[in-house]
Amino acid sequence: MTYLLGLRMDGRGVLVVGGGRVAQRRVPVLLQAGARVTLVAPEATAALEDLADSGRITWHRRGYRAGDLAALGDFWLVHVATDAPEVNTLVSAEAEAARLWCVRADDRHASTAWTPASGTAAGATVGVVANGDPRRAAGLRDAVVDGLADGSIDARRGRERLRGVALVGGGPGDPGLITVRGRQLLAQADVVVVDRLAPTSLLDQLPADVEVVDAAKIPYGRSMTQDDINRVLVDRARAGKFVVRLKGGDSFLFGRGGEEAAACAAAGVPVVAVPGVTSALAAPAAAGVPVTHRGVAQDVHIVSAHVPPGDPRSTVDWAALARSGGTIVALMGVERLAAIADALVAHGRPPATGVALVQDATLPTQRTVTATLATAARVAADAAIRPPAVIVIGEVVTAARELDILHEGRDDPAARTTAADAGAGDQPVEGNRVL
Ligand SMILES: C[S@@+](CC[C@H](N)C(=O)[O-])C[C@H]1O[C@@H](n2cnc3c(N)ncnc32)[C@H](O)[C@@H]1O
Repeated sequence: MTYLLGLRMDGRGVLVVGGGRVAQRRVPVLLQAGARVTLVAPEATAALEDLADSGRITWHRRGYRAGDLAALGDFWLVHVATDAPEVNTLVSAEAEAARLWCVRADDRHASTAWTPASGTAAGATVGVVANGDPRRAAGLRDAVVDGLADGSIDARRGRERLRGVALVGGGPGDPGLITVRGRQLLAQADVVVVDRLAPTSLLDQLPADVEVVDAAKIPYGRSMTQDDINRVLVDRARAGKFVVRLKGGDSFLFGRGGEEAAACAAAGVPVVAVPGVTSALAAPAAAGVPVTHRGVAQDVHIVSAHVPPGDPRSTVDWAALARSGGTIVALMGVERLAAIADALVAHGRPPATGVALVQDATLPTQRTVTATLATAARVAADAAIRPPAVIVIGEVVTAARELDILHEGRDDPAARTTAADAGAGDQPVEGNRVL
């Protein structure tokens, strides 16, 4: 049997002997816990070398010598993971003599301490040891961490209650593209106020008592006004609830996140923003169009096309965009595609400039059509492209086709994440998972 401890490493020294893949996995976790790490190894992986070069760890670039444990510093813990058993035995023996716990990677029976399979979820650290069986430990750890993240284990039980409002960017639609932090906060929400373009499949995993307010729909059919939404956020938060405002993409890119943050601030409600993967960048990427490409485009302009060029309500300088020659990504513009293409050509963009329209990016219904400025409006109409769609304009579209990296037509479903497997990635057997 083992006795599981949570070591508070802040500022305390740890000696790591061996610079291979085991050390590469453990050192970042030790650093994250605040440990001072000293590495002894004649060679180290590139990642460890980077940590040494940036001064985050001290690296003695040589083999371990008898007496190093006492000579090199003041250590509270030792990790030894070299591929020379005699070195591992020497270090373990010195640690034993010094009454220091030593995690020995090559021989768990000779090890005085085992690293648990650990993970963080819902603001807690979970550690599992399974009688020295790291695979079983990792499996159990995954079950707990995934359960906390997807709501099948109620992450709110016994917690210190979160308060206020979190503006969470939910990403472009695939439930696997919300951030880890976003998912953590969602699992702790008392109230979720959600938009139509947010990854709504994640809502199925919430505990039954979470109030879900659909901002796209209220009785009598119309959408909630921004004032209604602001009021719900503030009222629920003032009632002591933790509110997650879940949006598509990033809340601060054509997402009215600034208005919601301001409404909360004005009401004295604490608010945090969790950035999201915006459709402006995710849609081109999902279609295989790099928005910048060496030698092709050095600048990207993201614009709202909810009003056409020339409309007095538009603040977009289409003439300048035409002159820039860079990539233009237009959101909310499908119905105004003809006007956009005409304006760009009128201001000097060649009619042969490539255009890609990506509808339902990252969703099972994703599809992409390509055209030129001269043909875009007709091609989009023929293909019956509908919102939500992102319009990408520029030489990068042509380059993507020439490089054979463009996915036209329908998306490859195998590349997408489902809600069930979101977050359950290809994890090392041991090590640390953050959810
Ligand atoms: C009001 S804006 C919100 C943008 C969002 N805040 C973001 O960062 O992605 C809505 C527009 O985003 C684009 N959009 C959002 N999700 C999309 C998706 N999955 N595929 C294509 N376009 C999308 C469309 O242009 C849509 O009209």
